[in-house]
Parts: sequence; C-alpha cells; structure tokens
Amino acid sequence: MVRHFLKDDDITAAEQAEILRRALELKQAPYSARPFEGPKTVALIFDKTSTRTRVSFAVGVADLGGSPLIIDSQSSQMGGKESVADTARVLGRQVAQIIWRTYAHAGLEEMAQHAGVPVINSLSDDYHPCQILADLLTIFEHKGKLAGLKIAYIGDAANNMANSYLIGCALAGMNVAVAGPAGYQPDHGIVARAELIADKHGGSVEVFGEPIGAITDADIVVTDTWISMGQEAEKAKRLEDFAGYTIDAELMKRAKSDAIFMHCLPAYRGYEVSAEVIDGPHSVIWDEAENRLHAQKALMAWLAEQA
Ligand code: CP
Ligand code: NVA
Repeated sequence: MVRHFLKDDDITAAEQAEILRRALELKQAPYSARPFEGPKTVALIFDKTSTRTRVSFAVGVADLGGSPLIIDSQSSQMGGKESVADTARVLGRQVAQIIWRTYAHAGLEEMAQHAGVPVINSLSDDYHPCQILADLLTIFEHKGKLAGLKIAYIGDAANNMANSYLIGCALAGMNVAVAGPAGYQPDHGIVARAELIADKHGGSVEVFGEPIGAITDADIVVTDTWISMGQEAEKAKRLEDFAGYTIDAELMKRAKSDAIFMHCLPAYRGYEVSAEVIDGPHSVIWDEAENRLHAQKALMAWLAEQA
C-alpha cells in the first residue's frame, strides 16, 4: 500500500522510532541507502519560499541515488490553473515521490489521493511534520532519549509548528507544554488528538496562557516565528499580541539548567527569541537544521519500501 506523510500521526510510534533509528544510521553512512538508484526522479513542489527544506530534500534525494526536480508552482500550471488531482495524476506517472510545501492542508490530501506514489508534506498551514522528525533526532542526540522529556513550545501556539509539536512529540511519549497568548492557542481538536496519543504512549499535553508555566523545568525549549508565511499582513498586530513571549536569558533560567533551545528557522532575533539565547550555549539550532537532511532521507527511504 502506498503510504504518505502529511501529518505527524500518519505514522505509528513504532514507525516514528524506526525512521529516527534509520536517520542516525544514514547520518553515519550517508550513501548506504539507494532507493532512488536509476536515477529515479522526486518532485519537490514549492508554493511558499524555503531555504532548509529545498536544500535538504534536494541533497537528500541525490544522496539516495535519485534526481530532485524542483518545481516552483508559480511557474507551473498549478495554483488555480490546473487542479491538484490532475497534477497528481501527471506527476505520479513519472516521479517516485512528491514533496509539497503549500498553504491549505486539504490540497496535500487531494494530491495523496490521486498521485499513486508517496506524498510528503514539507509544510502546510496546519503541519510541518518533517521538521518534527529532525527535531526529535536532534533531541535524541543531545539527551539520549525522547520519552519522558518535557518540551516547551512558547509563541504562536496555533500555527503549523505548534500543531506538529503537539502531535509528533506526544507520539514520541514526551510531555508537551505549549504557551500562547489569547487568540493564538491551539485548536481544541488538535489538543484532544494529542492528548489521546499522549495517553497511549505515556506522555502528556498541557496548554498555558503565559510562558512561565510551560517553560518551568523544561528539557527542551522551542519557539517559531510569530508571523508565518501567508500572515505578513498581520505583522503589526501580531508583534503587539506577542509582547512578553520573547524567549530571553531570563525566561530560559526557568527551564532545566541543561535545557537545549531549538528553532526551526528562519528566526527573527529580538522578536520570538533574543540573540543571546539563539546564539548562546543552550542553542542547538545548527544541529537541528542539519538533521532535516538525515531525518528526511530516512523518511523517503522508509516510504519507498512501503510502496
Ligand atoms: N525550517 C524550515 O522549514 O525552513 P525553510 O522555510 O527555510 O525551508
Ligand atoms: N511557522 C512557520 C514555519 C517556517 C519554517 C511558517 O509557516 O512560516
């Protein structure tokens, strides 16, 4: 059966662990898996801008023996001109996998329904599951385990990163605490889903209306931009609404003394995080950015085997 990775719980906890194990293996031996030997082509479609995702998937496909085809949707027939279903049918006959960064999550579901090959969400308005795999790999490398650790996400708790932390880290058996101001709290449906997953895997989920409750005694502290792609017009209002949510050295003191700081990047120093923290001793952001490559290679190799 063709499998897809559109959201964090499209895989089981055991499958997530297996993908992370293979990511560690591929980090040690980068050319040891060659599922795209031929070379087979993998389509990377971008409706939104990207640096890390574009580079890590392009390099990852090449490392796996394949050829990456980068499609900017603006210069293709997609984006209102041709339907997602028809695009899926055309691509599915020629490429081995489809990686798509887009706006509405429903588009990814339509692509998956019609493509006949694995589809990977490389960020939608609702989820960024590939980033979470990279983050889990980074946490494992620095802490030696995942289950039982407390991860605190402070900032826009209603965005794609917050959703993916809630679901993906609950699946890993972690204790997930998120904090966002009024109007930026996670959707009830996401929280309920994360709670069910956490119950099953020994983790927990907590939602706070201020940063201190969430960050206290955290093993991992994370944040993300307050203004996601597509929300640029709301910038002035958001900067006001997120006052008091900057992760600075003072706030970091509430976390465990050996806590690590992560950020999916791009970061806006002085807004969601101070330069002192993101460029300081707790920060592991460059390991995290590199791990996009290893985690996604493991994901693509694993998906290729399920098809
Ligand atoms: N973190 C992340 O997805 O970065 P890009 O937007 O640069 O791809
Ligand atoms: N929440 C951010 C993540 C960027 C990688 C956005 O969607 O723009």
